[in-house]
Amino acid sequence: MADNTAKPLIETTGLVKKFGSFTALNGVDLKVYPGEVHALLGDNGAGKSTLIKILSGVFKPTAGEIRVEGKPVSFTSPRDATEAGIGTVYQDLALNALTSVTRNFFLGREITHFPGPFGVMKMREMDEIATREMAKIGINVADPNQAVGTMSGGQRQTLAIARAIYFGAKVLILDEPTSALGQKQQMEVLKTIRKVQKLGDIAIILITHNEIHARLIADRFTFLSLGEVIGQGASKDLEGDDIKRLMAGGAEIGDLAKELAV
Ligand SMILES: Nc1ncnc2c1ncn2[C@@H]1O[C@H](COP(=O)(O)OP(=O)(O)OP(=O)(O)O)[C@@H](O)[C@H]1O
Ligand SMILES: [Mg+2]
Repeated sequence: MADNTAKPLIETTGLVKKFGSFTALNGVDLKVYPGEVHALLGDNGAGKSTLIKILSGVFKPTAGEIRVEGKPVSFTSPRDATEAGIGTVYQDLALNALTSVTRNFFLGREITHFPGPFGVMKMREMDEIATREMAKIGINVADPNQAVGTMSGGQRQTLAIARAIYFGAKVLILDEPTSALGQKQQMEVLKTIRKVQKLGDIAIILITHNEIHARLIADRFTFLSLGEVIGQGASKDLEGDDIKRLMAGGAEIGDLAKELAV
């Protein structure tokens, strides 16, 4: 559970992003604490992806500040963000279905006997690490040499999450990790997120359209609408109607019902 007396692991103040004359983010304040799952909610076009792309070094903000563990940071590339401990798991997961679990786990960061591209890979050690790290967050891989293509969607999410954590993510950003999955696999991913949360020292930002998932798994939430924060607080305080109203970008549910009554 999040300890709100702690310092935020990541914090944004007055974050603005303009694309030409269009304002995609208009002064976003966000604080995410260690051990917290923070749901980022909002309708299509609300600015969720724009916000996480700024946090992961893909876009530079037009104005505003980002602090990681209290220190102002300025990312000029995704690599800068990774080095500062921001691990982003995108929807496509960046996995190669044809190669093994272990090869995907290390992907370009293999452990070798000798430095440089011609070093001999320490396959056994790498297999052990990949298996162990995935087991920590709930997936037992029978054979780390199996092709990723043979894993379920939920297991693939776990692989991508375990990899980000092993390579130093203190802030884990998950972009709609359940949206492409069936019910059973969605629960598998939620369990994985819970296990990461229980590690206690990682801050998780969960982008989701699924209000039920947000209520099940998140400690706190931020609702964006047209680039502005229109709701922020503890997930347990959210009532179903609030969520529906906020998801609709602040429109009253009654107005929406009228709109539908053709
Ligand atoms: N590179 C860009 N150039 C111009 N406008 C952009 C760019 N990226 C995003 N936008 C605009 O910024 C707004 C916010 O987009 P964003 O992708 O952040 O929304 P989102 O909340 O992630 O939506 P969704 O739920 O559909 O993924 C949208 O109106 C979008 O058209
Ligand atoms: Mg998006």
